[in-house]
Amino acid sequence: MTENQTLTVRDNRTGEEYELPITDGTVRASDFNQIGKSADEPGLAVYDPGFTNTASTRSAVTYIDGDKGILEYRGYPIEQLAEKSTFLEVAYLLIHGELPTKEQHERWVHEITFHTFVHENVKSLMQGFRYDAHPMGMLLSSVGALSTFYPEARNISDPDVRHEQVVRMIAKMPTLGAWSFRHAQGKPYVYPDNDLNYTENFLSMLFKMSEPKYDPDPRLAKALDVLLILHADHEQNCSTNAVRSVGSSQVDPYSAVSAGIAALYGPLHGGANEAVLKMLRRIGSKDKIPAFIEGVKNGDEKLMGFGHRVYKNFDPRATIIKKACDDVFEVTGVNPLLEIAQELERIALEDDYFIKRKLYPNVDFYSGLIYEALQFPPEMFTVLFAIGRTPGWLAQWLELVDDKEQKIARPKQIYTGDRQLDFVPAEERWK
Ligand code: ACO
Repeated sequence: MTENQTLTVRDNRTGEEYELPITDGTVRASDFNQIGKSADEPGLAVYDPGFTNTASTRSAVTYIDGDKGILEYRGYPIEQLAEKSTFLEVAYLLIHGELPTKEQHERWVHEITFHTFVHENVKSLMQGFRYDAHPMGMLLSSVGALSTFYPEARNISDPDVRHEQVVRMIAKMPTLGAWSFRHAQGKPYVYPDNDLNYTENFLSMLFKMSEPKYDPDPRLAKALDVLLILHADHEQNCSTNAVRSVGSSQVDPYSAVSAGIAALYGPLHGGANEAVLKMLRRIGSKDKIPAFIEGVKNGDEKLMGFGHRVYKNFDPRATIIKKACDDVFEVTGVNPLLEIAQELERIALEDDYFIKRKLYPNVDFYSGLIYEALQFPPEMFTVLFAIGRTPGWLAQWLELVDDKEQKIARPKQIYTGDRQLDFVPAEERWK
C-alpha cells in the first residue's frame, strides 16, 4: 500500500496528464489548481458545499470512525472516559494531549476552581438582557464580551496567555450558563461555590435558593458530568469548524469560541435535542407514531435526533446516554416522553427508509429527556452542550494556533450571478 501513492488525472479538455501525490488518503486541493491553468483561465478547483468530503486540518484531538461507531479523545475510547473519568480530567486530556499526573490534576482543578467568578460588570451586562432572553443568546454574547475584560487575550502567540484564557473559559462557562438560566426565571444570580466540584458547583449556581449551602444529589451530578464528557469534542463538526474558521483570523479565543456557540445554537447542530422534545410532545402518544413516520418518509419533516454526518452505524454517545437516562430517572422519576421515544426508535430502526439511509439515533435523541428530568427548560439544552464542548473547541483552537500549515479560512466560490451590468441611477430607474 505504500507504493503508487499517487493519483493520475487526465484532463480530457487538453489531453494532459497530471500525477498528484496521495498522503494519508487525501490529495491536496491546491494540487488540482495546476490543471488547466493558463494566463486566461484559473486552474481546476474542487466544489464541496458543507465540506462533506474535504479535510480542513490535520488533528490529533479526536478520532471518529463513523462506520464502526468509534469515538476516542486523544486515543481513549469515549466509553472508558464516560465510565471512569471526570469532565475536568477529560478537559485536561483534550487540552494537553495526555492524562494528568496527580500533581498536574490537582493544579488544573485548583486553577479552574479559582477562575469561576466573573467580573461584576459581566453580571450587569447579563442583567441588561430582556426578561425572556434565550440563554444561548446570552451565553454567546457574554463569552464574546469576555474579550473586552481580558484584552491581553488577543496576544495569541504567547503560550502563557493562551493557557490563562483556556482556564478562564472552562471555569467561567458554567457561571455564565447558570446565570443565563436564572435570568429567564427572574431569580437572583448565584455566585460560584468553590468548595464544590465542577458539576456540583454548576448545579448549585442553577438551583440554589435560600439554603446556606446547596447539596446536590451525587447521582445527578455524576450524570451531568457524564453528559459533559460525551459532548467534550467531536472533531471537525459545524461549531468547531466555526471556532477554527474565525480563529484563523488570529482573533482572541473568546471571540472564536463565541462563533462556535453561535453555530451550536442552530437546530441542525446543538438545537436538535430541543427539537426532539417538541417532536415527541407533538406526537403525544404511541398510536400516532406510524402516521408521523409516514410523514417523515414523505419528506414532510425530519425525524429529529436521527441521522448523523459521520455516524452511519450507531452513535456511541447515544448508547451511553441511554444508560445515563436510567440513572437519572431513578432519582427524578421516569419522563413520560421516554415511552414514545423508545417506541419511535424501535419502529424507525425496523423501517427500510431509515435502514437504507443508515439513520440511527444520535446523541440528541435521548439527551433532551435527561435534561428535562433534571428540570432544565429546552432553551438550556444547547447551553449545556456548549459548556461540555468548551474544552474541545479550545483544544482545537490551540492546535490551530500552533499549526504552521493553517492559513486564514477563505473558501472559493463558483460565481453564478450577472456580470458587467450598467448601473442606472435610482432617479432614472424609478421614473
Ligand atoms: N429524518 C429523516 N430523513 C433524514 C434524516 C432524519 N433525521 N436525516 C437524514 N435524512 C435523510 C435525508 O433526507 C437524505 O435522504 P435522501 O437521500 O432521500 O435525500 C438522507 O437521509 C441523507 O441525509 P443528509 O441530509 O444528506 O445527511 P447529512 O449528513 O447532510 O445530515 C444531519 C446529517 C444534519 C444530522 C441530518 O441527519 C439531520 O438533519 N438530522 C436531524 C437533526 C439532528 O438530529 N441533528 C443532530 C445531529 S448530532 C449533533 O449535532 C450533536
